Amino acid sequence: MVKDTSSDWNPWSLHKHNHVVVKFAVSILLMGLAFRLFFSHSIGFSPVAETLFVEKTGAPEGQEIGYQISQKGKCDIFTGDWIPNPSGPIYTSESCHVIEDHQNCMRNGRPDSGYLYWRWNPRDCELPQFNAERFLELMTNKSWAFVGDSISRNHVQSLLCILSKIEQAVEVYHDEEYKSKKWHFASYNFTLSVIWSPFLIKAVIFEDINGVSTSEIQLHLDELDKKWTDQYQSFDYMVISGGKWFFKTAIYYENNTIMGCHYCHGKNLTELGFEYAYRKALQLVFNFIITSSHKVLIFFRTATPDHFENGEWFSGGTCKRTVPYKEGEIELKDVDTILRNMELEEFEKASAVGSEKEVNLKLLDTTRLSLFRPDGHPGPYRQFHPFAKDKSAEVQNDCLHWCLPGPIDTWNDLVMEMVVNG
Ligand SMILES: *[C@@H]1O[C@H](CO)[C@@H](O)[C@H](O)[C@H]1NC(C)=O
Ligand SMILES: *[C@@H]1O[C@H](CO)[C@@H](O)[C@H](O)[C@H]1NC(C)=O
Ligand SMILES: *[C@@H]1O[C@H](CO)[C@@H](O)[C@H](O)[C@H]1NC(C)=O
Ligand SMILES: *[C@@H]1O[C@H](CO)[C@@H](O)[C@H](O)[C@H]1NC(C)=O
Repeated sequence: MVKDTSSDWNPWSLHKHNHVVVKFAVSILLMGLAFRLFFSHSIGFSPVAETLFVEKTGAPEGQEIGYQISQKGKCDIFTGDWIPNPSGPIYTSESCHVIEDHQNCMRNGRPDSGYLYWRWNPRDCELPQFNAERFLELMTNKSWAFVGDSISRNHVQSLLCILSKIEQAVEVYHDEEYKSKKWHFASYNFTLSVIWSPFLIKAVIFEDINGVSTSEIQLHLDELDKKWTDQYQSFDYMVISGGKWFFKTAIYYENNTIMGCHYCHGKNLTELGFEYAYRKALQLVFNFIITSSHKVLIFFRTATPDHFENGEWFSGGTCKRTVPYKEGEIELKDVDTILRNMELEEFEKASAVGSEKEVNLKLLDTTRLSLFRPDGHPGPYRQFHPFAKDKSAEVQNDCLHWCLPGPIDTWNDLVMEMVVNG
């Protein structure tokens, strides 16, 4: 194993047999079909208006396009294509000081830069580029939290970089492992946090600093992670997401009693499968949100795909592509489909109940647009100039997290659009 100080970069356990393959052989076909149906009809988000309108303003490339467009009707901003964007990203790796080393692809020597020159173009409306000044004005006296795993941290760093054009945030808190952090934008009295909670529910994790687990994770399927619930009252906005950590070997507890496990061979416990745990976790999270008297605008972000090819993260998988996929060139991996379908189901259930209680719950459905960006990952450039000494060095690739700047910046354009236009 590659030794690494940031143990959480890879969401999978080091138990290789974790890799889910066999047991879903049957469901794969069904899921694949469901996936295709799902996308070709663009359902799943707040019902798309029957009368979709098409309007492109004449605004020059890279200039801000008015927000009025999507006010005329509900446009599905998650269905679209990546199109060339000659103006490129709104910040650079030099201008932003919060980019984690492992995602600072440019500084780490990634030779190509074509992946920076694309923008997401929804089929039926324009997606305006993030307006940092307007965003910060809207966030005056507000508090925003990102809750989840290292992809959430990746996401918050993108937001910080975008906002740094207007104001540099001051870091006001970090935990011992620098996984949870808080920043303050003084001029706007805006507080931005990232809370490390990869399972969202109570988990006892036995991983050393190198990400090697010394024992199975203990997951409490009937208790939320206090790390975020204790602070919930102070949030006005929250982006929350779960996902790949549920693939790991874990022992499942309910009422402090072992109920079973996932991939715990030789333990004489019932294999319950990660779906069992993820569904329970999602239900617990949504139930907490729906029943809370404190109103927060919640963005529930869907599962993020990885793009390992010719192997997995542990077996020499790489991601060498330099341009986005087009529609039809790639399908979501089966395990990601399982996660996402479960997320959509539980989200739908929660929003049905929540809408009666004036819960403001929104789906940030980034899965598919991210699926089309195999070119946006660090690959070997998660390390500083990995081939400086040896051109054919064997380097572990990261085909899960996103380069900054990179496609993940679009997630914030989508968030901005949803904040402004609902
Ligand atoms: C922010 O809070 C301060 C102090 O409570 C208040 O004076 C100010 O009007 C608030 N600004 C906005 C835009 O809500
Ligand atoms: C900052 O915002 C908080 C609410 O998030 C408010 O309680 C506080 O008074 C504000 N402070 C200032 C200096 O405006
Ligand atoms: C939880 O466990 C306690 C004892 O540890 C037991 O008294 C209680 O009935 C259990 N509750 C449920 C819902 O199973
Ligand atoms: C496995 O557990 C069952 C029921 O809890 C018990 O009857 C059986 O003896 C156990 N087998 C082993 C090998 O420990």
